[in-house]
Amino acid sequence: MRIVFIGDIVGAVGRKALKESLPKLKKLYPNAIYIANGENAAAGRGITAALAKEFYDQGVHGLTMGNHTWDNKDIFEWIDDEPRIVRPANFPQGNPGKGHMVVKAHGQELAVINLQGRTFLPAIDDPFRKVDDILEQLKNKYKFIMVDFHAEATSEKIAMGWHLDGRVSFVVGTHTHVQTNDDRILPNGTAYLTDVGMTGPRDGVLGMERAGVLQKFKTQLPVRFVVDEGKYHFHAVTVELDAQTGKAKSIAKIRYIEDEFVME
Ligand SMILES: [Fe+2]
Ligand SMILES: [Fe+2]
Repeated sequence: MRIVFIGDIVGAVGRKALKESLPKLKKLYPNAIYIANGENAAAGRGITAALAKEFYDQGVHGLTMGNHTWDNKDIFEWIDDEPRIVRPANFPQGNPGKGHMVVKAHGQELAVINLQGRTFLPAIDDPFRKVDDILEQLKNKYKFIMVDFHAEATSEKIAMGWHLDGRVSFVVGTHTHVQTNDDRILPNGTAYLTDVGMTGPRDGVLGMERAGVLQKFKTQLPVRFVVDEGKYHFHAVTVELDAQTGKAKSIAKIRYIEDEFVME
């Protein structure tokens, strides 16, 4: 059992990065389950039905989201009817959509849980208690469970890794858009990476045009950030899971830089 998880797809450049990188990955890992974070797909803010369909058609089996979930109002039209997308499970009760799903591909089932941190982000429900509740529901039903923890603080993400070690197969962080170098398998068999990094423009600031971001830092005046253009970098991570135990056997970061070099 193999999972490939692709970091936050940012705008048109991110979508181009996915289109060019996915076929390479599919050649390397034809039987993997592919999950991607889509919270920034529509010009950096949210996702539309058309973009979600584009990703599914290209071979992404499931999508996770984050703090930008509701930025594009299009999503309210279809999220309740789409089984292949999750938004953070600890959003307030009554929010549309769902926080966990089961992705089926290649005759295998992967439970996917999306959570959002509360450090330097809105004060939503407790992600630690929420994931305990969900795991109680999933207990003994699914061997392969992964968590996308969409959070800002490395400490909160590392804490979540320890909280879930031995209880899920894989914990990956999203949201900071910068890939961390701490991929490892925790002592009880959970593959862990603090942040997978993003799939989008490489010469801006986290996917946004750098002039606006610089202006904001220098003047503290209101600036509307726009998604950057230009060349991309693509960030993902792959984990291999033991078919019998569901525990992680290996984890490897993936980074493709447009027109430069390929590192695996
Ligand atoms: Fe993001
Ligand atoms: Fe985010």
